[in-house]
Amino acid sequence: MKTFNILSIGLLLSLVSCTQVPGGKGDSAIEQKIEALLSKMTLEEKLGQMNQISSYGNIEDMSGLIKKGEVGSILNEVDPVRVNALQRVAVEESRLGIPVLMARDVIHGFKTIFPIPLGQAASFNPQVAEEGARVAAIEASAAGIRWTFAPMIDVARDPRWGRIAEGCGEDTYLTSVMGAAMVKGFQSDSLSDPTAVAACPKHFVGYGAAEGGRDYNSTFIPERRLRNVYLPPFEAAAKAGAATFMTSFNDNDGVPSTGNTFILKDVLRKEWGFDGLVVTDWASASEMMSHGFAADPKEVAMKAVNAGVDMEMVSYTFVRELPALLKEGKVKEAAIDEAVRNILRIKFRLGLFDNPYVDEKRMEVLYAPSHLEAAKRAAVESAILLKNAEGILPLSASVKSVAVVGPMASAPYDQLGTWVFDGDKTKTVTPLTAIRELVGDRVQVIYEPGLAYSRDKDQSGVAKAATAAARADVILAFVGEEAILSGEAHCLADLNLQGAQRELIAALAKTGKPVVTVVMAGRPLTIGEEVERSAAVLYAFHPGTMGGPALADLLWGKAVPSGKTPVTFPKMVGQIPVYYAHNNTGRPATRNEVLLNDIPLEAGQTSLGCTSFYMDAGFDPLYPFGYGLSYTTFEYSNVKLSSSTLKKDDVLTVTFDLENTGSYEGTEVAQLYVRDKVGSVTRPVKELKRFTRVTLRPGEKKTVTFELPISELAFWNIDRVKTVEPGDFLLWVAPDSQSGEEMAFEVIG
Ligand code: GLC
Repeated sequence: MKTFNILSIGLLLSLVSCTQVPGGKGDSAIEQKIEALLSKMTLEEKLGQMNQISSYGNIEDMSGLIKKGEVGSILNEVDPVRVNALQRVAVEESRLGIPVLMARDVIHGFKTIFPIPLGQAASFNPQVAEEGARVAAIEASAAGIRWTFAPMIDVARDPRWGRIAEGCGEDTYLTSVMGAAMVKGFQSDSLSDPTAVAACPKHFVGYGAAEGGRDYNSTFIPERRLRNVYLPPFEAAAKAGAATFMTSFNDNDGVPSTGNTFILKDVLRKEWGFDGLVVTDWASASEMMSHGFAADPKEVAMKAVNAGVDMEMVSYTFVRELPALLKEGKVKEAAIDEAVRNILRIKFRLGLFDNPYVDEKRMEVLYAPSHLEAAKRAAVESAILLKNAEGILPLSASVKSVAVVGPMASAPYDQLGTWVFDGDKTKTVTPLTAIRELVGDRVQVIYEPGLAYSRDKDQSGVAKAATAAARADVILAFVGEEAILSGEAHCLADLNLQGAQRELIAALAKTGKPVVTVVMAGRPLTIGEEVERSAAVLYAFHPGTMGGPALADLLWGKAVPSGKTPVTFPKMVGQIPVYYAHNNTGRPATRNEVLLNDIPLEAGQTSLGCTSFYMDAGFDPLYPFGYGLSYTTFEYSNVKLSSSTLKKDDVLTVTFDLENTGSYEGTEVAQLYVRDKVGSVTRPVKELKRFTRVTLRPGEKKTVTFELPISELAFWNIDRVKTVEPGDFLLWVAPDSQSGEEMAFEVIG
């Protein structure tokens, strides 16, 4: 039996931060160049470096600003010819020839679009994240983009929040691993690689905890929770060498991140040693006036710069207000110099002074076959099989006809998902196209959308679709969300399928033919009824350019689903917030509670017991975190711990056997959860600490090993100290966050 050893991801992260590459931390040659350049700069030129504008098309006008030295960075210019023209002005016509840093939101692909990050997280495969970011960087840098505002690594536990689509879900550890991988993918092995794009972990910090899941809303995260839940992914990204950070829109406990000295200086700079640049979010500096945190643009600039912001995105207060603030001594020149150093450092590390121009011929790299293949692999691994009653999937040769139905079956634009500025919908391969290509020669493909788009309430096409579907052996219903229904500012108070999609699924189920429901969405939806009505359910999030071929391969068994839920799926929106790493409370649910419809009449006040649950929804979600099925089955056994008593500097080795007990080769995402039973503060009932993908042939069994340094059980405790507290721990090796055999171990002094 082969053993399968996993080097701990934590160890990998620490290794990454130690790699000494030219331009890495403390590169004295670069530091000398920075000082030499800084010493020549006028105040106006320094403030110009701290100013980022969004391209507004007028090349002449922007060239004038660049020539004056008033622009340090431009976002949203993606034509390499125009990029070179603007860069030429900076390098050859401005007084000091400092190159401009060209930026764009390249979140899950530039031209070749990968699954949305929430979908990539469902793969539990950092290689998917790294490869997607690498392809995105190769394509974006061909257009002259050398800075992306990604990865978005806001831990998000509220699917009402539209931006849950952009992140890696609810878990701190999964987000940390996937975010660090994206940083590596974007930045390559060295920022000076012409295909490298500076990463920008965002939104620093706590943005995903917006009250009520309503975007831009306030957050109220105490420091301990900030440090135990929301900061670790950013620390991992910093350790992975992220070149830049972006401040978040939210005010946390009354302090907008863009004016928050604690996170920008105490944590990011002093504790983590970050030496890159910090940029605001879009006008998040001037929005401090709307927050009521700054009275006027002058106070905006003062609070942002004094808090540690280096570059202002589009709101222009730095250029306009800092001269007076310097004169009045409200901002010190030393603070300006430090900001400019951070900006120049990234420009030097990117090699912009030596190679400021992009080779315009590189645009041939867009949509390269290898890029499309990588996007397809990512889409395959991002899909989650939620249900497969009677093993209807994969579709067998006995299926001679399928009905392809639903508004997402042929939706090339919406299949790409949110934050797609440069992807071309004409390149999207839809499920309808892919199914016709894959099986059209031997399976009759009947296509009847039923609805024109996801919000379509016009049911006139539903009966027609049901009638057509009744002629098929199997119905493939593609439903979900248009791209616009998730992403920034796109929050929902109701997570049921929009439009008449629920009626469509109900009508299809009434035909008596088996319904395979495929969901393309930017978030978990409350699809409990549709699951009941379906024989199988495949959740694809928004799968990107190659989502069609990926889904066709999965439906016909050329690929086997391996995705796991990166976020808890609520039964109903009223359960939110609902996530697996919750506290136990003093009265945890027993899961035997009497639910609403079973409560006897005139029930006594305390007759139902007093535990923490919902009478109409119970306690458990529709699907827990880490859940996903395969076409095969896996058995976990023989879980062993290297010791049941460990010290703080020990490494716990966990081994277990994993067997493929089914009839398809498949990949299981095995997960390791730990619980700190008693702490100086209450601790979550479970926390993910390791995961790995294991591919097994039918009947194959492997011994799998997790190595967990006990130091990784540290948390910020009652004394606001990050430490491992001795005591009893529980551990599970499991296929998801609700299963697994419980094991115990102790940490001593
Ligand atoms: C947006 C987003 C941010 C993005 C920036 C630039 O408002 O919040 O994620 O990178 O502006 O487009």
